[in-house]
Amino acid sequence: MITILSIESSCDDTSAAVIQDGWLLSNRTADQTVHKIYGGVVPELASRAHQANIVPVVDAALKDAGVDISQINAIAFTRGPGLLGSLLVGVSFAKGFALANRIPLIEVNHLHGHIAALFLKEKGTPYNHPVFPFLTLLVSGGHSQIIKVNDYFSREIIGETIDDAAGEAFDKSAKIMGLPYPGGPLIDQYAVDGNPHAFKFAKPLVGDLQFSFSGLKTSILYFIKNETEKNHNFVKDHLNDLCASIQFTIIEILIEKLKNAINKTGITEIAIAGGVSANKGLRDRMTKEANQNNWNLFIPNFKYTTDNAAMIGITAYWKYLKSEFASHGITAEAKLKTD
Ligand code: KG4
Ligand code: ZN
Repeated sequence: MITILSIESSCDDTSAAVIQDGWLLSNRTADQTVHKIYGGVVPELASRAHQANIVPVVDAALKDAGVDISQINAIAFTRGPGLLGSLLVGVSFAKGFALANRIPLIEVNHLHGHIAALFLKEKGTPYNHPVFPFLTLLVSGGHSQIIKVNDYFSREIIGETIDDAAGEAFDKSAKIMGLPYPGGPLIDQYAVDGNPHAFKFAKPLVGDLQFSFSGLKTSILYFIKNETEKNHNFVKDHLNDLCASIQFTIIEILIEKLKNAINKTGITEIAIAGGVSANKGLRDRMTKEANQNNWNLFIPNFKYTTDNAAMIGITAYWKYLKSEFASHGITAEAKLKTD
């Protein structure tokens, strides 16, 4: 039996999971509410909170799994990309744990983890996963990419954002409307009761497989500024319609580029991944498009869309099988590339 303990600490979630023979036994995450009032993650506060949370979170994950430390065969951690101070807490914990228990260390790329979340196996949940090669729309707070996934270990980025990520577009739009961080889930929530065609925002003119969201943010900023000069309560009066229209525009941009990628590659095995794949509007729209265009669509379990250690653990399990272990000289890499 191969039992792996995994740690994720790249941004503002401290998470630990236990994977046994490829099956997820437990996943515990402590999120950080300290950033709410700042409109974004404050790196210094994030690393301090990871430091406080990591031992209790690991302890809880081991207890949930019913596994003793002596049964752990390897420890995995997120090496990057992410906030350096946050990553360092996870890397240092993992090294200490590996040394103390004389077990191997496995490094995992956070973005590979998001894709691997599509392959998580849990007792009582149907196991459906995409067949290689497939296209993934990887949309998170730090990244927006279209990736051709060839197998567990081989990927090609075929499209990417030239400025902001889709998650940033959600969060920055929310901030303009005075909503707390992270704004993405709130926009999702308010959009449910809004009209997606109430307000029109221009789509960017960039390459076929490129995303751009900074222009959208600017046009939302000026639109809201103008309207607020006429009506002080404009955002409050139109919150649902604003959220629905902003969300609709972001989804339109994502779908258009994904369709370009599908046309270019001829691949219709499609998945979404990353924090923004939690978005109900995106999940519904993807399902509709898949039905209309005969795509074979895979959407990760809602619980494993945003940052979690389960996705790091399943990636580490594949690496364990190939004996891909890290040396103890390894360091965190804030800008680690996807490939
Ligand atoms: O993958 P993730 O947890 O962290 C990164 O790797 O960046 O993604 C976080 C991003 C944030 O921008 C957050 O606002 C967005 O995912 N997000 C959402 C939703 N849930 C999380 N955006 C839109 N709708 C959601 N329901
Ligand atoms: Zn992430």
